[in-house]
Amino acid sequence: MKKYIDISDIENVSKTIEAAIALKKDPFQFEKLGKNKTLVMLFFNSSLRTRLSTEKAAKNLGMDVVILNVNDAWNLEFEDGTIMNLDTSEHVKEAAQVISQYADIIALRAFSTLKDKQKDASELVLNSFVKYASVPIVNMESSIAHPLQALTDAMTIEELKTTSKPKVVLSWAPHPKALPHAVANSFVKMMQQIDVDFSITHPKGYELDSEITKNILINHNQEEALKKADFVYVKNWSNYLDYGKVVSQDSEWMLTKEKLSTAKFMHCLPVRRNVVVEDAVLDSEQSVVIHQANNRTFAAQIVLKKILENL
Ligand code: CP
Repeated sequence: MKKYIDISDIENVSKTIEAAIALKKDPFQFEKLGKNKTLVMLFFNSSLRTRLSTEKAAKNLGMDVVILNVNDAWNLEFEDGTIMNLDTSEHVKEAAQVISQYADIIALRAFSTLKDKQKDASELVLNSFVKYASVPIVNMESSIAHPLQALTDAMTIEELKTTSKPKVVLSWAPHPKALPHAVANSFVKMMQQIDVDFSITHPKGYELDSEITKNILINHNQEEALKKADFVYVKNWSNYLDYGKVVSQDSEWMLTKEKLSTAKFMHCLPVRRNVVVEDAVLDSEQSVVIHQANNRTFAAQIVLKKILENL
């Protein structure tokens, strides 16, 4: 693997999931692979799980890890040909080349602005590092993708499924703040790569990017959509058509124990209790969110391993 920007960078999804599950059973079996190699992690936005699990994954492979909260450094410029007489002090052209001298792999997180759909879709920050860095780049959640989360989610479904082709439903849920589409986008793409019966439920007007969902069944009746589900993956996203707006906080869409029925509950975390999902779900044995968060380490580890093997 040369980079991990999107799930399309995975050559064979099912073998990669199998390999991640094997790493979970024996996390230190490749502890010499990353000796004298450094992972530099750049955070333009905050994180709990991605930061800790990716660092742990790198250390399991014997790598050194350096972390920079980019907002503690200079404001970087990403536009070409800008007269930099305002608040940006360093261009990504220099920064990416400099950081590449300290790193064997760069992982970075840079969320969408949710203000400019075209700009977010262009993945300016991520793609600038891909363009100007001389080492492989790992996406730790960008404007429109969260491929480490999606690999984790597929791994979790593979581990916990009780039928060969489980029914998986992605359900929108209310949230007071405008949230990005990255998790939902990557989850939808990943569900098309594994053997599941997949559908989406959301209120009318909350369509995701139609390019991503064009082959997916969408049901605007949540109760009907969730019937006989094996896994219910709940996630809020802000409006895509009226870009970045919160046009509904309809509490009717919160996931309840009754709606979950016998399914397993998935969420990428962090999650707002009794807004997105009720306590009775999160505190039940049907919730697999902690299991899912644990798998973040092994999804990151298999990605770093594949990149290290290709250096
Ligand atoms: N799911 C996820 O990416 O968690 P963090 O934002 O805490 O990294």
